[in-house]
This record gives sequence, structure tokens and C-alpha cells, in this order.
Amino acid sequence: MKSTDAAQAAQTLIVEPRGAVLVLRLNRPDALNALTNDLIAKVLSALERGDKDDSVRVHLLTGSDKVFAAGADIKELATETGASLSATDPLAQWDRFHRVQKPIVGAVSGLALGGGLELAMNCDMLVAADDAEFGQPEIRIGVMPGAGGTQRLTRALGKYRAMEYILTGKRFTARQAHAWGLVNRLAPRALVFEEALRLAEEVAANAPAAARLAKQAVHFALDEDIASGLAHERRLFYSLFDTEDQKEGMRAFVEKRKPAFKGR
Ligand code: CAA
Repeated sequence: MKSTDAAQAAQTLIVEPRGAVLVLRLNRPDALNALTNDLIAKVLSALERGDKDDSVRVHLLTGSDKVFAAGADIKELATETGASLSATDPLAQWDRFHRVQKPIVGAVSGLALGGGLELAMNCDMLVAADDAEFGQPEIRIGVMPGAGGTQRLTRALGKYRAMEYILTGKRFTARQAHAWGLVNRLAPRALVFEEALRLAEEVAANAPAAARLAKQAVHFALDEDIASGLAHERRLFYSLFDTEDQKEGMRAFVEKRKPAFKGR
């Protein structure tokens, strides 16, 4: 391994400029890019640095060919309680995504689940592999989406589809996501990054200030009261950490067995 390759392998987020596009690549292959609080903090810092850097016009957020991200890091969350989460409020930092000014294109291959889908939905446009899959499977481990999923999936898919996927935890395909308007473009897995880069470059060719303000205005159109929606969602998410089913669901995941939920 060359020393630059070795240095990159040790980083959980690889940040590389490609012309006017700042590429952020999630890099925790052994944990399927599970999102620790630290990794999300790194993504946010990179985006905020990109916002301040005049050579950057668009951000491109991606994972590996196999997985965009398999969710919040369950091992980090498993031992939390409602009180500990309310005290440290680790998911509050996700609100900073909403304040990123420059457009973010997401390139999704493989799985975008739980916090991974929530991260993808913080992008402004999505390019997905035609065999990618999306889902909010939190309910299967005794909790619910906590980083914006109930608010953003509902805005993206409408109440009825969002309810079905959030309440069953089952996945939907990239083709469905494309048909429903959550994904802008589909591409074969090997070409997803190139297609996302092309889209980012199309945006980067436009006036940066106009792109920033246009993004802000589109957000404004959807934003009526999202802040209270997110705060409400987070309180509910944290409260689930006082249930036995959360402990059982997450313990079962770590022990690689089916959870036995008791409804309390
Ligand atoms: N957190 C922590 N570790 C994870 C993880 C996660 N979300 N997802 C996968 N991993 C780890 C596994 O524990 C495993 O590590 P070990 O080798 O050390 O055991 C490694 O990644 C590979 O995973 P699997 O062996 O499970 O791989 P698989 O191909 O058999 O299954 C999968 C892939 C279906 C994605 C499965 O890993 C899975 O179901 N992951 C969890 C998905 C999930 O429930 N996401 C929601 C998390 S909660 C959340 O996101 C809350 C929120 O809204 C903020």
C-alpha cells in the first residue's frame, strides 16, 4: 500500500476536491459506513469548510460501491438511555446540514438505511445505482427514525408511503425512489459516481451566489415548521431508549439474532 493509500484507509471520511466539486466519501467499510457521531461531525465540518472555500461550488457526498451508509452506529447507541440522549443531544448536530449553503449532490450505491437514508435526504439531489436500496428499518430494532427521517421521508414520499416504510421497516428500491421523485437520476452501479459528478458540474457551472440563494429558497418552500418537527422527532426517538424493546432490539442486532419484542 502506498503511504497516501494507507493514510486514506485510516480516515473515516475522505475529502477530495475535483475541480469546483468537493467530494466527501464515507469510509468505514468494516461497519458498512455506520454513522458515528464523530463521523457525522466530520461530514458537517467538511461541508462547512466547503461553504467558506471560494474554490468549492458544489459538494458531492458518497459512500462505497457496496454501501452508502447502513444507519446510525447501533453499537454506539445501544447502551444509551432516554436521559443520557436528552442530556447530550447527539443528533442535534444534524440540524447543521440544513444550514449548509452550497448545493449537495448525493451518490448512493448499495444500501442507504436509517441514518444513511436520513443523510442522503440531506442532499439536495440524489443519483442512485439502479440496484441501490433505501429504508428506515429503525422500527425493527425497537426505535424509530431520529435524524430527520419522519419529517423528510414524509415530505419526499407523502404521508401514506412514508407511513408504510417507516412502520414496516421494509426497503424500497432505487427504481421506486426514482419513480416517487426522491432520486433524480439512476445509473449502473459502476457509473454512479461519474453521473453524480456530471450533475454536480452542471450546477457548478452556474453562478455560485444564485445557486446558494436558489437552494435556500427551495428549502424555504418546504420548511414551514420543520425545526419543531425535528425537535419533536428527536424527543420521541430519545424516549424510546427507556424501553426494553430498544435494549432487546439493539442487543439482538449485536448478537446477530432475531429480537423478541415485549411491547414495553
Ligand atoms: N451500526 C453499527 N454497526 C453496523 C451497522 C450499524 N447501523 N450496520 C452494520 N454494522 C456492522 C455489523 O455489526 C457488522 O460488524 P461486525 O463484522 O463487527 O459484526 C458489519 O457492519 C457488517 O454487517 P453485517 O454482518 O450485518 O452485514 P450484512 O451484509 O449481513 O447485513 C445490513 C447488512 C442488512 C445492512 C445489516 O448490517 C443491518 O441490518 N444493519 C443495520 C441497519 C439498521 O438497522 N440501521 C438503522 C440504525 S438506527 C438509526 O439509524 C437511528 C437514526 O435514525 C438516527
